[in-house]
Order: sequence, then C-alpha cells, then structure tokens
Amino acid sequence: MMINRNILTLEEFRKQELRFLSHATGELSNLLRDIALAAKRVNVEVNKAGLEDILGDTGKTNVQGEGVQRLDEYANAEFMAVLRRGISCAGIASEELDDFICFDEELCNQSKYVVVLDPLDGSSNIDVNISIGTIFGIYRRKSQKGIPCSKEDFLQKGENLVAAGYIIYGSSTMLVYATRRGVNGFTLDPSIGEFTISHPDIKCPKNGNVYSVNQGNYYNYDHGVKKFIDSCQKKSGSDSSACSLRYTGTMVADMHRTLLKGGIFLYPATADHTKGKLRLVYECNPFAFILEMAGGKATEGENNILCIQPESLHQRTPFFAGSYQMMKSFLSD
Ligand code: AHG
Ligand code: MN
Ligand code: MN
Repeated sequence: MMINRNILTLEEFRKQELRFLSHATGELSNLLRDIALAAKRVNVEVNKAGLEDILGDTGKTNVQGEGVQRLDEYANAEFMAVLRRGISCAGIASEELDDFICFDEELCNQSKYVVVLDPLDGSSNIDVNISIGTIFGIYRRKSQKGIPCSKEDFLQKGENLVAAGYIIYGSSTMLVYATRRGVNGFTLDPSIGEFTISHPDIKCPKNGNVYSVNQGNYYNYDHGVKKFIDSCQKKSGSDSSACSLRYTGTMVADMHRTLLKGGIFLYPATADHTKGKLRLVYECNPFAFILEMAGGKATEGENNILCIQPESLHQRTPFFAGSYQMMKSFLSD
C-alpha cells in the first residue's frame, strides 16, 4: 500500500494551527517538536530491545522505591537533554528525578513553560514486548519569566495544563497530544522519520464495553469499586452484554485503547495502598486532561482529577477515567 505523502507532519500541522492563533509565539510548537524528537530517539532504542544490551534493571531504585530499568534511565536522560537544548522549557519534573530540575540558563529561564514527565511508562513490560509509553504535561510557569523556575510551577492543578500528551511505542509508534483546541494523534512514518497526522480530532466514544483494571487486586478494592466491576461482568455498555476485560499493565496502552474505543480504566486504592499507585502530576493529570478534551471524564473517585491541588511531585491518587456514560454509571454506583 502506498503511504499518502500529503498527510501533514506534526510540524506542518502545528504551523497550520498557528495561522489561527494570532498571539502565539511558536514556543509551544517548539516544545512539541522537541518532545517528538526525544520520542523518536527513545523509539529507536525501544525497537532494539532484545538485540542490544539495553534491557534489564539498573540495580537502582527511584525516589518511590521502585526498581529503575535501564530504558527508564535512558528515556529520562534523553527527554531531559533534548528539552534543555531546545530552550523552550524552563525545567522539568520527572518520575525518575527526586526533585524538579531547573534548566538554569539565560535562554531557558526566558521560557514560559515547564514540563512534567513519565519518561517511560509500563517499565515492567519492556522485556516482554508489550507496548510501553511516555506521558507528558505542559504548564505555563507561575514564576516570573527570566528567573529560574520553581516548585510552584510544577505543583499546579491539572486544570491549568496548556497541553498534555503521550507517546505509545506499540505496533506502530504514535504521539497523541491535547490542547484546549482538541486532541490529535500522529503516527510515526518510519520511512521519513516524522510523526504524521493519522487521528485528527479524537473524540472518546460516549460509551464503551471494555473495563480495564488489575482484577488480581479485586478483593482489596472497596465495596463501591467491587460492585462496579461486578456490574461490568454482568451487563453494561451499549449492547447490554457483559463488558470485556482488557489490561496490559501499561497505563499508556490501556488509556490509548480507552480513548479510541471507549470504555473505562480503573486504578483504585487498595487496603494497603490507600492512594492507589498512579502518580497525580505526571500520569493522572495529563490523561485526565486528554480525556476531558476528548469528551470523556476522569476522577479520583468523587472529585475531578484536574481540580486536585498537588502537594508533592510524586503524590499518588486513585484514578478512574473513560467514556462519559461509563464514568457516569461508575460515579452513580
Ligand atoms: P511506570 O512503569 O511508569 O512505573 O508505571 C507503571 C504503572 C502504569 O503504567 C500501569 O497502569 C500500572 O503501573 C500497573 O500496575 P499494576 O501492575 O499494579 O497493575
Ligand atoms: Mn508510569
Ligand atoms: Mn515510568
């Protein structure tokens, strides 16, 4: 099959968008271009997994006590280096960094944006060839331009996000990003090494018939969550038949499917982990923003994820997100 060369690349697409944004400086577009570049480099390494010696544990643990894989470390270093050189980012906060990092250089300090990042999501799936991803969120800094960025720039509510997105390194590699103008998906065309628009104006289906949860923890979930899971197994969704269960253990892959096909993703609290597992700042907020911009919904059980004031960079939260109708029945259960 021939590839259609008239499809816009990410950069061309952004340039078209800029025509309608009279006040835009192009800084956000530069930032997206840098993120795409880092993603392409990580993609090359991901594709070599198994061939070269890049798999496995580093033997280190991160600030959350989780084992750090070599690809976690590589992806973190790559995104950090590209964003620092790109001069459109004042600093980053990442799952793999204890604290935020300020790119304290003249040009970076002039930037109005900071980035939050899960450089490699789904680390436990790296060596078994299941899709993995990268998650990012972009905030306008609260601190003054011209000086080094500060922690308050990163501890913003998700509702302040200017843009958020993810890259999925899967059967094909895609970059999906959301702004208040909508959600668009780009597939990496390996023949030209560019992300090209393949999923314009993504809308999450209003309903779905897939639920996505670590069913192995079922007996540790609270009554409400169990009841909802039971109802998914009996009947729900649009056709009154039982829902299917799909769960990869990579948030990016499970959320990507939920966004495109509809359904619900749940990572609830358990008796032992009362805040669940997923991180508010660089996992849940970006996805909550993407889902909302696509017509879906995300909560921590009762409240909208995007309304939570983060208190620390690595704080966790229960997370439930998906199709509008399924979320409505979850919340009313
Ligand atoms: P990370 O690899 O960035 O640490 O994130 C892993 C997360 C997330 O991707 C996934 O949804 C979740 O861990 C799966 O956890 P369980 O194995 O507990 O289901
Ligand atoms: Mn993750
Ligand atoms: Mn990660």
